[in-house]
Amino acid sequence: MTHVIDGNEVADGVREGLRDCIDDLESAGVTPGLATVLMSDDPASETYVSMKQRACEDLGIDGSHHELDPDAPADELFDVVDELNDDPGVHGILVQMPVPDHIENEAVLRRIDPIKDVDGFHPENVGRLVAGDARYKPCTPHGVQKLIEAADVETEGAHAVVVGRSDIVGKPMANLLIQKAPGGNATTTVCHSRTEDLGAVTRDADIVIAAVGVPELVDGSMIAAGATVIDVGVNRVDADTEKGYELVGDVDFESARERAGAITPVPGGVGPMTIAMLMYNTVKAAGVQEDVAIDLP
Ligand code: GUN
Repeated sequence: MTHVIDGNEVADGVREGLRDCIDDLESAGVTPGLATVLMSDDPASETYVSMKQRACEDLGIDGSHHELDPDAPADELFDVVDELNDDPGVHGILVQMPVPDHIENEAVLRRIDPIKDVDGFHPENVGRLVAGDARYKPCTPHGVQKLIEAADVETEGAHAVVVGRSDIVGKPMANLLIQKAPGGNATTTVCHSRTEDLGAVTRDADIVIAAVGVPELVDGSMIAAGATVIDVGVNRVDADTEKGYELVGDVDFESARERAGAITPVPGGVGPMTIAMLMYNTVKAAGVQEDVAIDLP
């Protein structure tokens, strides 16, 4: 029987552990604070940010939200980030990506104080991750690590294939998998749009992580029997539904499930973990900045 990994259940477990940390912080007079910043009309980005704020509310994290007109000049966004950098009640800052084309994503990431960069996207934090001394592991890859662990799948010595090389998922995912650390020690291959014969590579994998943004790219014929399949994709495709679309992953779930030993669904797999790990990083950030020792889950 294929194990369908329940991301909501694993995320619940992380949140329960975080509640204890938040209690310890409260006892020391600290309420963790997360500021989200949105400079986009994209409905998916709006949904993601409101889910992040709801998660804060649920845990008793002090969430604040800042919205900017997508046509505003870059300086307006930088001023908001500077104010949040200087606000001692804000331990984590998240600017929802992408920002409008007239602003360089990189310039925004560099503007955030690295100690408050709960995405782990600032070059200093990327460098620390690559060096094996991560301060904040990027939320989605960290969540994938937790899912693999929860499914009792060993990464050590396994061949892990990451499909996708984005800064947000593919690259940090590969870096986590090669760390000399629990959840790492995998022989790791990164595939991308120029990979020849993707199926030949994924068929050799014990663990396939699809994070490429192409609906149902990875199907059952590309999966080895018994492999673990983690689907990071969230793609809106036209469908005859009330909203006019449905969400599908980068994996063709039905055919992949026939072959896989364990697989994540979309929705209900990686998505809930991304938000739980953002809460994790925010709680960690509060502990670090306020010098309170906490036992993270
Ligand atoms: N856009 C898509 N995913 C993410 C994420 O994890 N963090 C931020 N800041 N923006 C995103």
